[in-house]
Amino acid sequence: MNDREFDERNRKMIAEMGDDRALHELANKFVAHSARREYSYHFRWLGRPIIQYPQDIVAMQELIWSVQPDAIVETGIARGGSLIFYASMLHLLDNGGIVVGVDVDIREHNRVAIERHPMARHIRMIEGSSVAPEVVAKVKAAIEGRKRVLVVLDSMHTHAHVLDELKLYSPMVTKDSYLVVFDTCIESLPEDLFPDRKWHHGDNPWTAVHEFMRTSKRFEIDRAIPDKLQITVAPDGYLKCIED
Ligand SMILES: C[S@@+](CC[C@H](N)C(=O)[O-])C[C@H]1O[C@@H](n2cnc3c(N)ncnc32)[C@H](O)[C@@H]1O
Repeated sequence: MNDREFDERNRKMIAEMGDDRALHELANKFVAHSARREYSYHFRWLGRPIIQYPQDIVAMQELIWSVQPDAIVETGIARGGSLIFYASMLHLLDNGGIVVGVDVDIREHNRVAIERHPMARHIRMIEGSSVAPEVVAKVKAAIEGRKRVLVVLDSMHTHAHVLDELKLYSPMVTKDSYLVVFDTCIESLPEDLFPDRKWHHGDNPWTAVHEFMRTSKRFEIDRAIPDKLQITVAPDGYLKCIED
């Protein structure tokens, strides 16, 4: 089988997985059950905790390789593992790329650990709410002149906040790059998983993505990615930018 035949077979099997309700239900059960054990907190990237499912980390690696961004913006830093991950990918691309991370509360011990990390030279951190005008202005200034920009939204997961982020950050994404919205899975997870959270069924990143997509012409939902992953926190969350 040559590379083209291999790719074609994979595309066919992935499309079949997209239609495989039994597999999808098993995957959803895994995400729901594993979330009770705080599964996403148990991984590290180059030593820093990264709050992601491994499947989504692999998907981001594939996206970064295919898009070859020279800037990645992420809202939601937490302990910094995702910033370090993106920085390490840009380091390998060796294109002078930077990662811009935004968080409303960058704890001192996290800031110090990120600043001391070997990948730190690729990282800029901005403290403040991701939807505050002065923060958005700082992000725009940081990516000024960059040619291929990829954006990841992973901060507060309420509908209103993510929708505001989508409106503010989507114009930064360049054609053929991606706007990734994490934790759209909340819509299909049991409600009792988030007893003390602000997000719920009907009020979460999934609902924000679907409201955004009703008016956005620049993006389309790339369903092949979640169809491939099955186990993902971002169903309908990988948005491809299809227009300048
Ligand atoms: C899910 S964690 C981010 C995980 C991180 N991206 C990773 O993969 O390791 C969410 C983060 O969003 C931050 N956050 C909450 N509200 C925010 C806001 N209004 N603006 C920016 N960040 C916010 C929290 O402080 C928290 O660190």
